Amino acid sequence: MKNIAIMDMALANTIAAGEVVERPASVIKELVENAIDANAKNITVEVYQMGLESIIVTDDGFGMDKSNLHKAFLRHATSKIFKVSDLNDIRSLGFRGEALPSIASVAKIEMISRTENSDAYFIKLEDSKIVDEGIAVSNQGTKIIVKELFYNTPARFKYMKSEYAEKNAITEIFDKLALSHPHISFKLIMDDKVIKATLGQGNIAQLLQAIYGKNITDGMKRLETNIGKIQVDGYLIDPKFVRSRRQDINIFINHRYIKNYVISQSIIEGYQTFLMTNKYPIVLLYLTIDPSLVDVNVHPQKMEAKLANERLFAFQLTPKVRETLESGHMPIRQTIQEVRKDLFKPTIMDIFDIAKTEDIDATPQMMEDSFVEQYDESAADKLPFFEYIGTLSGTYLLYQNDEGLFLMDQHAAAERIRYEYYEHHVGKLTKDYYELLVPQPLYITNQDSQRLMNNKRLLMEIGFEFDGPNLLKHPT
Ligand SMILES: Nc1ncnc2c1ncn2[C@@H]1O[C@H](COP(=O)(O)OP(=O)(O)OP(=O)(O)O)[C@@H](O)[C@H]1O
Ligand SMILES: [Mg+2]
Repeated sequence: MKNIAIMDMALANTIAAGEVVERPASVIKELVENAIDANAKNITVEVYQMGLESIIVTDDGFGMDKSNLHKAFLRHATSKIFKVSDLNDIRSLGFRGEALPSIASVAKIEMISRTENSDAYFIKLEDSKIVDEGIAVSNQGTKIIVKELFYNTPARFKYMKSEYAEKNAITEIFDKLALSHPHISFKLIMDDKVIKATLGQGNIAQLLQAIYGKNITDGMKRLETNIGKIQVDGYLIDPKFVRSRRQDINIFINHRYIKNYVISQSIIEGYQTFLMTNKYPIVLLYLTIDPSLVDVNVHPQKMEAKLANERLFAFQLTPKVRETLESGHMPIRQTIQEVRKDLFKPTIMDIFDIAKTEDIDATPQMMEDSFVEQYDESAADKLPFFEYIGTLSGTYLLYQNDEGLFLMDQHAAAERIRYEYYEHHVGKLTKDYYELLVPQPLYITNQDSQRLMNNKRLLMEIGFEFDGPNLLKHPT
């Protein structure tokens, strides 16, 4: 027999940290949520070395006095709920009383806080133990510095993804937090550079522009309604802005960002005829509901929530999304409506024709028609003979031959053709470009425009030049 022992606090905290503190972005989420729960009006997040060197979150909320600072890092210590029945009426983002002890078990911590009526006080922790403390100087509010994240958990450290992936996860979580509270001003600084800042004045258009970029609200539609006991306030971004993942369908229940497949699916269905296959909209959906009808205690990271009558709600939401999009000035549909009946036995050239004439991703046409002609022979070698039989859902071209049925996603095919063309022409197009008199704005998000800027050199080699989200030159 092996004897059973109760774990010591440090071990229990480190194990719990595995659930709560997955990566630097999850630390940021917990710390910012604490600041929001403290009624802060201004929250600044500073990140150094993708959060591994340090993460600093500063707020101007109600703060903590010396005794509460001591208690904050104890396991199951919370000021937000006190009894089991409180779980049915959660109005704060935190309630589990485990974020701070979990973070303190995998990093070194300094926390300085001041309330309205007490002096500022600081504590320092290492290995979950207080190693220094005393009177400090600061404004009302709280500043927490998390240093050397994962210094004592090498396995977790090793599983960190690339710098790009971690920074991306940080910006993504920051975006959700900022979007969740339009009346709080948020600032994200990475390695001393201000990445994003919101004004916190409750102006949704301004907020969306700060997060996604200047043009994002062009053609935006508002959806205000009640479905059952749920008050819905939605902002539907024009479908000319598309994403290839569904992560920008932002759903907030009582100002908590949540991931909910059923509701996001119902929004996608509402957008359906406006979007190409595998493209997703950008949406803000604020749902207000009696807290007793939501269960947020489903997952340690509190990012999932169960709504009473969720499916019924989703079912009723779809037509409202569609009606809103169809109201007023209709967005341009991104799918091809008509079937090309004239193509009975098309050649490869016909496929290319379709590819070149439709407006992919709604970005301005970045190419001239000429390359299509140059390209037919090499591409024709790669494809077997097949007979065209029709178009499915405006997207898939159907072909048949002795081997059976072939489906070709024409958007993907067009992208591939363009990709191969530019791949073959790297370094050859620099002199042969067309300089735009007026820069052509691209309908892309800040993140994508950052990606363009990161690859500026490579793009210049194939004849493209950008300035942020504006196209300056393209190959002839
Ligand atoms: N920025 C802050 N300002 C004021 N009080 C804070 C701040 N951060 C933490 N606290 C206090 O410390 C307590 C513990 O924080 P912690 O994040 O560990 O737990 P929680 O927020 O109650 O629950 P959860 O684990 O779900 O986040 C909080 O309940 C709150 O009283
Ligand atoms: Mg918390």
